[in-house]
Amino acid sequence: MTTQPPLHSVPRAEDLYAKFVVPSANRGLTLVRGQGARVWDDQGRTYLDLGGGVAVNSLGHAHPAITDTLARQSATLIHSSNLYYNPWQGELARRLVGLTGAGKMFFCNSGAEANEALIKLARKWGHASGRYEVITATNSFHGRTMATLSATGQDKIKVGFDPLVPGFVTVPYNDLAAVEAAITPKTAAILVEGIQGEGGVYVATPEYLLGLRKLADDRNLLLLMDAVQCGYFRTGQWQSFQRILETTPGGDAFRPDAIAMAKSLGAGFPMGAVWFREPYQDVFGPGTHGTTYGGSPLACAVALTVLDVLERENLAENIRARGDELIAGLNKLAGTRGIAAVRGFGGLVGFQMKDEEAAPVVARLTQAGLLLVPAANRTVRVLSPLNVTADEIAEALAIIESAL
Ligand SMILES: Cc1ncc(COP(=O)(O)O)c(C=O)c1O
Repeated sequence: MTTQPPLHSVPRAEDLYAKFVVPSANRGLTLVRGQGARVWDDQGRTYLDLGGGVAVNSLGHAHPAITDTLARQSATLIHSSNLYYNPWQGELARRLVGLTGAGKMFFCNSGAEANEALIKLARKWGHASGRYEVITATNSFHGRTMATLSATGQDKIKVGFDPLVPGFVTVPYNDLAAVEAAITPKTAAILVEGIQGEGGVYVATPEYLLGLRKLADDRNLLLLMDAVQCGYFRTGQWQSFQRILETTPGGDAFRPDAIAMAKSLGAGFPMGAVWFREPYQDVFGPGTHGTTYGGSPLACAVALTVLDVLERENLAENIRARGDELIAGLNKLAGTRGIAAVRGFGGLVGFQMKDEEAAPVVARLTQAGLLLVPAANRTVRVLSPLNVTADEIAEALAIIESAL
């Protein structure tokens, strides 16, 4: 048994990182504990955490149902590999298919991996007809693996990593004509986010989504959606496209051909998943794609608990209402606090600053006790846990009002 040294004799995390951790991220505080929407740093200061670990902590911190499942499941079966069936993966797949539509699930470990599966689906499906190109959107974000960064429509994350994976064409978001003009005899698929999160919370229009569906059908292309950040009830609907299309005639019937999921799926336990619509569900036959950890008993048991809590506590309705309060409050502040625009829904809301970059604004809010997340285009994201309360939203608005 190892004994933990007392905290005061341990070097500061910052110093250990400086010596031993690759400096690939800009980090701020040292966080040591969380409870609900609150976190504590190593100096004992408390913060309201509406950054949610970048849209991951959908049930906040230390939710007792997750703690309980982690303890129980880890005492039963943590990992078995995909050489075997496990009942939790089967049941989770059944629940996710039930929420999404007829099809099947593939499980992996992160958002980038889920998007890799979408890209590999396009390649595998298009192979027989010699098609492999995927059209993606300017300002999109799909991950940091070589294929997903090549698919991403932001040049800053590609610098120094060329030659990139070929076969991606990037055109402006919400511009149907640009997608149509980019189609070539090599095009296999279109890949978009329902709401661009990292890009600055830009929401797809109903016309764009329905137009993409028609274009994909007419030109025999796959329509792939990256719902890693905007899915999983974050908008108040299971998927962001359902929120966007909820008042549009015919919107109910809209489904892409495959959807990448991650982040909120495990509410902090790392996992990813892809839904494949019929008839694309069997494109990956035995041995064609895989991962050691994907769909482990522990990950799936946690994800089942997350779904249970979301449904039992009606958190989709909660985050819809809290998001409306937040957006109304931010719009009120907009005239006087340097805010140029407010975008998004529910637990994915962005406020764009007129002149200031997002990072210094986030730093000032951190000092004032509120954790938020910067995005591109001078936009600050509020990625609330789905069980955030009206009081916590009011507190966040008060901090924003006084700190900006
Ligand atoms: C839309 C989107 N896709 C993919 C990813 C990559 O996910 P991960 O960091 O889990 O690989 C992210 C991460 O922020 C994302 O927002």
